[in-house]
Amino acid sequence: MEYVTLGRTGLKVSVAGLGCGGFSRLGLGTGKSTAEAVALVRQALDLGVNLLDTAAAYGTEGVVGEAIKSVPRDGVVIATKAWIPRGEGRRAAERAVEGLDNSLRRLGTDYVDLFQLHGVAPEAYEQAREVIAPALMKEQAKGKLRHLGVTETASDDPEHEMLQRAVEDGAWDVVMVAFHMMHQNAREAVFPLTRQYRVGTLLMFAVRNIFSRPERLAAALRELTARRELPRWLADAPNPLGFLLHEAGASNITEAAYRFARHEPGVDVVLFGTGDPDHLRTNIASLLAPPLPLADRLTLAKLFGRLSGVGLDPPWGVSSP
Ligand SMILES: NC(=O)c1ccc[n+]([C@@H]2O[C@H](COP(=O)([O-])OP(=O)(O)OC[C@H]3O[C@@H](n4cnc5c(N)ncnc54)[C@H](OP(=O)(O)O)[C@@H]3O)[C@@H](O)[C@H]2O)c1
Repeated sequence: MEYVTLGRTGLKVSVAGLGCGGFSRLGLGTGKSTAEAVALVRQALDLGVNLLDTAAAYGTEGVVGEAIKSVPRDGVVIATKAWIPRGEGRRAAERAVEGLDNSLRRLGTDYVDLFQLHGVAPEAYEQAREVIAPALMKEQAKGKLRHLGVTETASDDPEHEMLQRAVEDGAWDVVMVAFHMMHQNAREAVFPLTRQYRVGTLLMFAVRNIFSRPERLAAALRELTARRELPRWLADAPNPLGFLLHEAGASNITEAAYRFARHEPGVDVVLFGTGDPDHLRTNIASLLAPPLPLADRLTLAKLFGRLSGVGLDPPWGVSSP
């Protein structure tokens, strides 16, 4: 495993972070048992992954809590989240603190390394900054959380409006941002700012459905060519991203997607979500593989560099996180 410093938190984290949500939810989302999910987290820890990203909304905090019983608490970086509905007024602060306490209980720990507000829309940012963050900072002073973070609502905020404000604000030490081969706009909209302010970055949506299910990629390409945002041949080609697959390049599209995300300057940790032990092994290998060849990266930038908001499927077809 390779480790990096997560921005100004100073935390040493693995470049591959286990995403405990997404469609797989460690396998719970695809019919696996709790015991299998716990084993999957332990497999990740054994392979050197030390950052685990969960959330109250994922229903996997208990699994993470069980899995980390076998390792020293300071050997893992636990990130969790609370989703606070908009328009709660002052009550939003209480909801967030209750959320933190409940997460600590489910995780079986007395602190989390990173507590994130989950899927904050641009319209909800003021509540997050003015009402919720000050209340959480009081909990931080009590030692219940080490760092505050915020995650964007990728599908509803594809231009990263919320994060652009959050990064400059000083309240959030870490942000979670969507970036992938067909949604590259964080390169200009977010990473220069996070680097300037030394805010840590966790990357989501590196693969999601679009680079793990060929039919989702084909559907996206049909839509984009119909809207004339991409050349027609991409929708007609039997293997539209086949140019990435060659001896010096990637051996499959999922591998290409993780390698693309991992080596983007400004990315600290790439979160990967899976419920499958074989995928877990191969995804870590992909994240530790060298960058895609320069020619392939240039082709990806030329073809897809102007796209925005592609392949950001929210879970279960709803737009909450
Ligand atoms: N707003 C937010 O806060 C937010 C939103 C989205 C995501 N996140 C975080 O980001 C994490 C990562 O997102 P994600 O879970 O969507 O992960 P992802 O790594 O982008 O995509 C995972 C999907 O691809 C499949 N997959 C993974 N490896 C594969 C392989 N080698 N071959 C074929 N299919 C493969 C998985 O299914 P299998 O189970 O079959 O492997 C799963 O359906 C989440 O778990 C969560 O922690 C946060």
